[in-house]
Amino acid sequence: MAADNQIESVLKEDRVFEPPRQFVEDAVLKPADIKALYAAAEADHEAFWADQARQYLDWHKPFTQTLDASKAPFFEWFADGQINVSYNCLDRHLADRGDKTAIIFEGDDGEVEHISYRDLYTRVCRFANALKAAGLAKGDRAVIYLPNVPEAAVAMLACARIGAIHSVVFGGFSAPSLRDRIDDAEAKMLITADGNYRGGKLIPLKETADKALAEGGATIETVVVLKRAGADIAMADGRDVWWHDFVADQPSECEPTWVEAEHPLFILYTSGSTGKPKGIQHASAGYLLGAICTCRWVFDLGDEDVFWCTADVGWITGHTYIAYGPTACGATQVMFEGVPTYPEPDRFWKMVDTHQVTIFYTAPTAIRALMKHGDEYPQRHALDSLRVLGTVGEPINPEAWMWYRELIGKSRCPIVDTWWQTETGGHMITPIASYTPTKPGSVTQALPGIDADILDESGERVTNAGAGGVLVIKKPWPYMLRTIWGDPDRYRGTYFGMYDAHTYVAGDSAQRDEDGDFRILGRIDDVVNISGHRLGTMEVESALVAHEAVAEAAVVSRPHEVKGEAIIAFVILKDGEGDDRLASDLRDWVAEQLGAIAKPEEVRFADGLPKTRSGKIMRRLLRTVARGDEITQDVSTLENPQILEQLQARGS
Ligand code: PRX
Repeated sequence: MAADNQIESVLKEDRVFEPPRQFVEDAVLKPADIKALYAAAEADHEAFWADQARQYLDWHKPFTQTLDASKAPFFEWFADGQINVSYNCLDRHLADRGDKTAIIFEGDDGEVEHISYRDLYTRVCRFANALKAAGLAKGDRAVIYLPNVPEAAVAMLACARIGAIHSVVFGGFSAPSLRDRIDDAEAKMLITADGNYRGGKLIPLKETADKALAEGGATIETVVVLKRAGADIAMADGRDVWWHDFVADQPSECEPTWVEAEHPLFILYTSGSTGKPKGIQHASAGYLLGAICTCRWVFDLGDEDVFWCTADVGWITGHTYIAYGPTACGATQVMFEGVPTYPEPDRFWKMVDTHQVTIFYTAPTAIRALMKHGDEYPQRHALDSLRVLGTVGEPINPEAWMWYRELIGKSRCPIVDTWWQTETGGHMITPIASYTPTKPGSVTQALPGIDADILDESGERVTNAGAGGVLVIKKPWPYMLRTIWGDPDRYRGTYFGMYDAHTYVAGDSAQRDEDGDFRILGRIDDVVNISGHRLGTMEVESALVAHEAVAEAAVVSRPHEVKGEAIIAFVILKDGEGDDRLASDLRDWVAEQLGAIAKPEEVRFADGLPKTRSGKIMRRLLRTVARGDEITQDVSTLENPQILEQLQARGS
C-alpha cells in the first residue's frame, strides 16, 4: 500500500502513565512474572500455551498434542485432552473455597444476595440434572434468554456440565431476533424468565419469547421459566415449566460429562457486515484457558479481589468476565441486574463502595454517559477499594479516559483498555495492569502468546509509526472462535479470506505509535477517504467528544465531488439544541484538533444516535441519512427508531 493510500492518524497523545508504584508492590503478578510470560511466549508459542493449559486447567485426561493446524483455518487446541468447564469453575474450588462468596448479586431494586461457591455448585448440579431429565444431551443446544441474574450463570454452567451447547441471547433483543437465533441453532430448549425490572421498568421476557415461538422455534421442546418479576404470563401446557418446579426433585450432585477439549462450549450470535447474525462458536478448553489467563494477567485478579464486570451475560464480555473467567479463578464477583443511572447516576459508584469492589470493568459508553451527569456523583463516594479499572468494546476518547482515571481511579488505579471481540473470546491487545505503561486511548500491546500486527492491503507489514492498516493476528491462539455455526465457508471468508489461512483478519484498522503501542482506528468499513487521505472516523468522533459542549458524536462520510468523500458529523450536545454558530465552531475545533483534512463538512445536531440494543451506533444507517437516501435497511434492532426521523428532518 502506498504511503498516500494508508489510513492516516493525526491524533497525538503524549501522556504516559507508568503502573503506580504502590499498585505494583501490592500486585499478585509482578513485572518480572509478566516479563517471563512474554519471553516464554516469544521463545515457543505452542509450548507456552501448553504450559498455561497445564497450570491453569484441571484435565480429566491430559492432552498430548497442543496445536493442530493441519486443517487451517480450522485450528484445534489440546484436542486429545478431556475436560469439563463447569468442573473447572466449581468443583475444584470446593475444598479450599467452598464457603467463599462466588457472586454478590445486586438486583435492580437494591436487593443483595451472596452466593458461595458451594451454593453455586449445588444450584448448577440441580439444574444440570433437570436438563438431563428433560432430555437435553451432550451437543444439544439450549437458548438462554434471561436477565443479568445469577440463574443465567447457573444455566450456562449447567449446560457446560452436561456437554450441552448454550446460546445466550441478550434480554434486550426482540422476538424476531430471538426466533432467528433459536432457529439457526436448532435449539431444543429455551430458558427464560417471566420478566424482570431494569431501571424500574418491566422487561417482559416471557411475552417476547412467546411471540418468538409463535413465529418459529419449531425445534423447542421445553421452555423453562424463572420467576423473577412476578409478571402475569401464559404457560403453555406440556411445553413450559417453572424453574423452581423443574429443579424441585433433583439431586444436588451431578457427575460432570467429560468432553473433548474442542467440544463446543457455546454459540454467541454477533452482527456481521450482512444482515444475518453470525453464530460464533467457541471450544471448551481453549476458551476457558483464555478467560483464566486474561483475568489473571490483565486485571491481576487474585484471591482477595472483588471483581465487577458491568456487562450483561448476553454479550461476550459477560460470558468471559462474568460466567467463566472469575469463577474459573475462584474469585468473588459482583453481578448487577440494573442500569448505571437508576435510581440515580451514582449507582455504580455506590455499589463499588457497598461491595468494596477492587477491579471494575465497564464500557466507554457508560463512562461517557456518567461523566455527562457531572462530577458530584462519583464525589459522593469514597471509591477507595478500587485498584484496577478496565474498559472494553469501543475506543475510549482521551477525555473520558482521563475522567475515569481521575474521578474514579483517583489517579491511583491503572486503566486497562482491552481490545478484543466476540470472535477472539478474551482480551488480545491491552495493557497488563501491573506491567504496561498506559496512554489515554491506546490499547498498547498484544498479550503474551498473541501475535498481533498491522498489514497493508498487499499483506506487507505496516511499520511506520502513525501509519494505519489492517489489524491481524498471525498465529492461532487457544481462545479463538472455531467456526461460524453451520457456516464454515463464511468463517473462512470473513476471517481468513483477505490474506491466508493463518492470518486472522479482525475487521478493524489500527496504527502503532513511536513506542509500538496499538491504537484502534475503527472498523475497516468505518474508514473514510478525504482528498485521498484515509481517516478513521472514530478519531474525528474522539475530537468532537473532547469539546466541552459535546456528549456524543458519530461520524460518517458521503460522496463529495471534489474531495471524494466528505465528513458528516452527528452530534449530541450535553445541553441545548445547537445552532449554526456552534456547528461552525465544532468544525473549526476538529480542524484544530486533527488538521484541516478532518474538518467535517456538516455538523448535524440530534437528541440521540441510532443504536442497536447493545449500544453500538448503527453507522450504516447514518451513512444513508447523511446521503439523504431512503432507508432500506432493517431497523428492527434499533433501540430508538424514532431518532431516524429526527435525523432526516434536520438535514440541510
Ligand atoms: O471494533 C472493535 C471494538 O469492538 C469490536 C468487537 O465488538 P464485539 O464483538 O461486540 O465485542 C465487544 C466486546 C469485546 C472490535 O472489532 N472494540 C472492542 N474493544 C475495543 C474496541 N475498539 C477500540 N478499543 C477497544 N478497547
